[in-house]
Order: sequence, then structure tokens, then C-alpha cells
Amino acid sequence: MSDFWKDLTRPFFLLAPMEDVTDTVFRELVMSVSSGSHLRVLFTEFTSVDGICHPKGRDAVIHRLMVNASERKILSELNARLVVQIWGNDPEKFFEASRFIKDNFWFDGIDINMGCPAEKIVKQGSCSALIGQHTRVSEIIQAVRESSGMPVSVKTRTGLREHATESWISHLLQCKLSAITLHARTQRMMSLKPAEWDQIALAVKLRNSIAPEVKLIGNGDVADTQHGLKLIESTGADGAMIGRGIFSDPWFFNSTSHERNMQEKLHLLRKHIILFSGTWPEGRNFNILKRFFKIYVHGFDGAAALRAQLMETSRPETAIQIIDEYL
Ligand SMILES: Cc1cc2nc3c(=O)[nH]c(=O)nc-3n(C[C@H](O)[C@H](O)[C@H](O)COP(=O)(O)O)c2cc1C
Repeated sequence: MSDFWKDLTRPFFLLAPMEDVTDTVFRELVMSVSSGSHLRVLFTEFTSVDGICHPKGRDAVIHRLMVNASERKILSELNARLVVQIWGNDPEKFFEASRFIKDNFWFDGIDINMGCPAEKIVKQGSCSALIGQHTRVSEIIQAVRESSGMPVSVKTRTGLREHATESWISHLLQCKLSAITLHARTQRMMSLKPAEWDQIALAVKLRNSIAPEVKLIGNGDVADTQHGLKLIESTGADGAMIGRGIFSDPWFFNSTSHERNMQEKLHLLRKHIILFSGTWPEGRNFNILKRFFKIYVHGFDGAAALRAQLMETSRPETAIQIIDEYL
């Protein structure tokens, strides 16, 4: 498979992997209102390799790998790429899970999560617990590359308790990766302290001397595209990955910068609810959908009352009815 990362031209933006957020529905929604802002790569939610490898456990995680045909279409129209993100600890499981993904799905690349700081995951020796585990990490990356045949990337943090960017990123740069996304915080910082983009500048310097062909992407606290472009410029990174910024503005990747009015926001929410119920007809937890209401229903007169009304609903049809009456 050809390596799309090589063809990406600086500067570009990426939509971050976010559990229970960046499913096929939300990715399509975001792309449907994006234009002219260099959104080039989107990620799936992270998926456990143990789950994928377990015949029963697989049923509980497989939805994370789902890609609607309508999402495929818009990916191709925007010339954007979709990367699947996996996590775990055991190189053999990574090998098996990557093979399963390759045989059953189509993605442009595969990313390994080495950044999540959640205690229950770290206790299993996965995600950010892999930081500094050089031998195991090399084995995992090699296993994924061999079995998936896809370009491999890693998303990680700068260290465990203290920044260890120099030793950790230097190691990753010797692992034949196509790209590294560096979230500019340590494991200990969780998301509580501000991201420290000087660590991205340091990682770029290491990249330039050790493996100039590897794409280096910065992540953490990017407020809007102008802010992202400035950070890319000042650090020398190739791109910026956007996570929570999308919560305050689904039009984040749209370069026409006018304020969205109530109609635009509610029409997008309506579209989201319809696509959600069409995609997950078995009734995927409606509470997951509710978390999105705040993204659309804010910043206009009466938003708080409408939001409260929508939060009382328990079925998509009722939510649509309330929106239609409001509109
Ligand atoms: C709700 C939520 C879910 C997340 N899930 C994932 C995930 O599945 N994989 C991952 O690598 N990072 C995950 N993250 C971390 C983000 O990808 C990103 O690194 C982090 O939010 C910092 O970027 P930001 O400041 O732009 O939000 C998640 C973050 C949030 C808020």
C-alpha cells in the first residue's frame, strides 16, 4: 500500500481520535461543513487489540471500525485520509488485530495509541504506559507494520512524570514510522495543565536530524485554525491535530469565518441525529448522541432552554420533533 503521509504538504490539519466522539457519523458531519482549511487526516476512536482478537469481545468494539459509504464518498471528495487507531500491550495481539483489520476493512493507515493516560488503561501496561518501553514498542511497531502492510504512525505524549521528549521521540524516530503525533503533555499532566508546544519544537529538531522523512504533528489546546497555523509555523511541525476544539465549533475546519446562526446549527444537529439513527439502528446508546447537543445548541437566544428540553428526550424521533417545532 502506498504511503499517503509522504504526499501530505505542510501545513495540514488532522481531526484527533476521540472515543465516543469521532465515529463514522461525526467524522462525516465535520467533513460535510469543512472547506479550504487543509483538513487532511481523520482518525477513528481507539480500538483495543485484545477486543479485536477475542471472538466475543470483538462484538463490543467492532462498531469503532465502521465506515459509512457516505463517509467514504466525502473523504474522497475532500482528498482526506482515514487512519484506524488501535491500542494494547502485547505485540502478538497487535499482529493478529492488524491482520484482522487488513483482511476485513479499508483504512489508509494504522496508528498506535501510546498516549492515553487513563488509569485503568495504564494499569494494563498500555497506551501511555508504553512510553520509554523501547524494546516492547519496537516489537509492537514491527508487528503492526508486518501484518497490516499499511503506513504506521504513533500518537504519544512527551513523557511519564517529566518530559522525556529527547530520548522517547529519538527512539520512535528510529522505528520506521510514517508519522508521529506528539500531544505536548506528559502522562501526569493528563489534560489539566496547558500543552507545552516548545516540546513540539524540540521533537521537530530531533526529527530533522534523525529521520527527516517522518511527519511530525503537534497536538494540544489548538483553539482555531489561525492559532494552529501559528503553532505549526513557530515549531516547524508539519501539521496540527485538533481534538476538543471541534466541541466549540463543528465548523472548525471551514475557512469562511462568519458566525453560524441558529438555523445553521440546528440543521446540522438534525442531520447528525438522522445519520446517527440510520447508522446505529440497533439503538446505540442515545446518551452518546446527547453529548453532542451542547456542540450545536449554544450561542443563540433560547439555546439553554432548548438544550434542556432536548436532554429530556430518550429517542431520536422526539429530538427531531422538538428541533422542527423550534425551527
Ligand atoms: C472525549 C475524548 C476522547 C478521546 N479519545 C482518544 C482516543 O480514542 N485516542 C487518542 O489517541 N486520544 C484520545 N483523546 C485525546 C485527543 O485525541 C487529544 O490528544 C487531546 O484531547 C488533546 O488535544 P486537544 O487539546 O486538541 O483536545 C480523547 C480526548 C477526548 C476529549
